[in-house]
Amino acid sequence: MTDSLQFLVRRNLQAKSDSERAAILANPGFGDHFTDHMVDICWSEQGGWHRPRVQPYGPIELDPAASVLHYGQEIFEGLKVYRHADGSLHTFRPDANGRRLQASAARMALPELPVAHFLQSIKELVAVDGDWVPSAPETSLYIRPFMFAKEAFLGVRPAKKVAYYVIASPAGAYFHGGVAPVSIWLSEHFSRAGKGGTGAAKTGGNYAASLIAQNEAYAQGCQQVLFLDSVEGKYIEELGGMNVVLVYKDGTLVTPLSDSILPGITRDSVLRLAEDRGLTVERRPVTIEEWRTGYENGDIVEAFACGTAAVITPIGQLKAQDFTIGDINAPAGELTMSLREELTDIQYGRRPDVHGWMTRLDA
Ligand code: PLP
Ligand code: COI
Repeated sequence: MTDSLQFLVRRNLQAKSDSERAAILANPGFGDHFTDHMVDICWSEQGGWHRPRVQPYGPIELDPAASVLHYGQEIFEGLKVYRHADGSLHTFRPDANGRRLQASAARMALPELPVAHFLQSIKELVAVDGDWVPSAPETSLYIRPFMFAKEAFLGVRPAKKVAYYVIASPAGAYFHGGVAPVSIWLSEHFSRAGKGGTGAAKTGGNYAASLIAQNEAYAQGCQQVLFLDSVEGKYIEELGGMNVVLVYKDGTLVTPLSDSILPGITRDSVLRLAEDRGLTVERRPVTIEEWRTGYENGDIVEAFACGTAAVITPIGQLKAQDFTIGDINAPAGELTMSLREELTDIQYGRRPDVHGWMTRLDA
């Protein structure tokens, strides 16, 4: 029973027409449009995982007392489906997303979905909505699996009824300017996550906690916000929705190590590619002072953000209350862009997948 589920498939009779879908795929944006179907699987303490379905995309009926609405017991994932030149559909390291969903579930006292069910749920959705995977360069179908407490109960304890869903959204660049360098605002008053907290889990509350700082960033003309550790306020952690990597002039890549940041699959992959090139990679605590002085004395020559949605995005400028480093109009870093090209070449099937990272979905 744990290896394969029998999905009931109910087709959407109001699915978008070919021309409606084509118009959306021509200009998908990010997170604005959704495919015709969604997956859902129920979980209960008594029955375990049951009633796997593919059904028309649409509103979810929830009891107003569903505990996710009150106490935020929720987790999610994000991964992409890429269309290769021969039309075939592939995803990138989905097993890593499946395992991370389990780790998030463990932290948030939710049930762990077997990785095989996770993979199957994505395949089932892509089997009915594969036409929604765009083919233009840099586009993909963003898959958003998520799980939440749906038991109607106002006591504070882990829910005994849970729902797992998968929705999908055709995607272009996450940032409006495409791969152009972005500017980052340093949040000095607000933390995203605390010691012993939920920072390493992909749970909605971390993002809710980041929004006030994200608003500060917008007010400062920046696109993303950088968080510091909540204990000393001196170590860099990550952006609201991406990891951060700094590049030294000798090609060494440095990225924060902390148990309150999300262990990004993009970051892990990019750092592996850098190691394959013989570059040194350091995963260790990094202070904001190291970034600032390293930039000012010319030791740190590039910085980039990385994540499924953002892929690899050069950081042009870092703005804080009392200093600004970088030049938003300077060209993107060379190593940043070459790692980006290597990663996306693998994802889009333009280069051999020597690490065995790609999984074909339509065969
Ligand atoms: N950090 C945060 C807070 C994120 O939301 C994401 C995106 O998923 C990442 C890092 C990067 O993770 P990944 O590369 O697995 O998408
Ligand atoms: C992702 O990259 O998958 C994320 O979850 C980031 C989010 C800000 C879209």
